[in-house]
Amino acid sequence: MNHFSLLVIFLIIFHISQAPALAYDEEIIILRFKYKVHIINGFTSNENPLITHCKSKDNDLGEHVLWMNNEFMFKFRKNIFGTTCFWCDMRHGSAQKTIDVFRVGHESNKCHGTGNCFWSVREDGFYFSDNNQSWIKMYDWV
Ligand SMILES: *[C@@H]1O[C@H](CO)[C@@H](O)[C@H](O)[C@H]1NC(C)=O
Repeated sequence: MNHFSLLVIFLIIFHISQAPALAYDEEIIILRFKYKVHIINGFTSNENPLITHCKSKDNDLGEHVLWMNNEFMFKFRKNIFGTTCFWCDMRHGSAQKTIDVFRVGHESNKCHGTGNCFWSVREDGFYFSDNNQSWIKMYDWV
């Protein structure tokens, strides 16, 4: 391949990564690069805050203290190699757990359709939603 074809390929990839998700129909979206992850304190009391600390291989998003119903949100662009992974350390009182909140190709990446990954952290575990309305329990605390 010469330099010109490399440049053309680069420009095509760059263009795709700038474009909004392409929808064939309401269900199937083949390309999505921009995502938002929302971590929500879904506890029913304010006795302890939820302390969350999210990271990826290249980013440390710092520690965030969330009281009832508060959320911490971060945005990112999925890399074109499909290796993006973010995980968060969660602490509440003496309970602690680290969960993957976004991982390409993994079960937990069900937010492909809406580009939003919601995690509601509750007394009985970690609930996932892609629309902030219908929740599925994914993990227990222990
Ligand atoms: C999610 O739903 C809650 C409760 O209805 C609402 O307060 C919050 O603003 C919503 N968050 C987003 C990002 O839509």
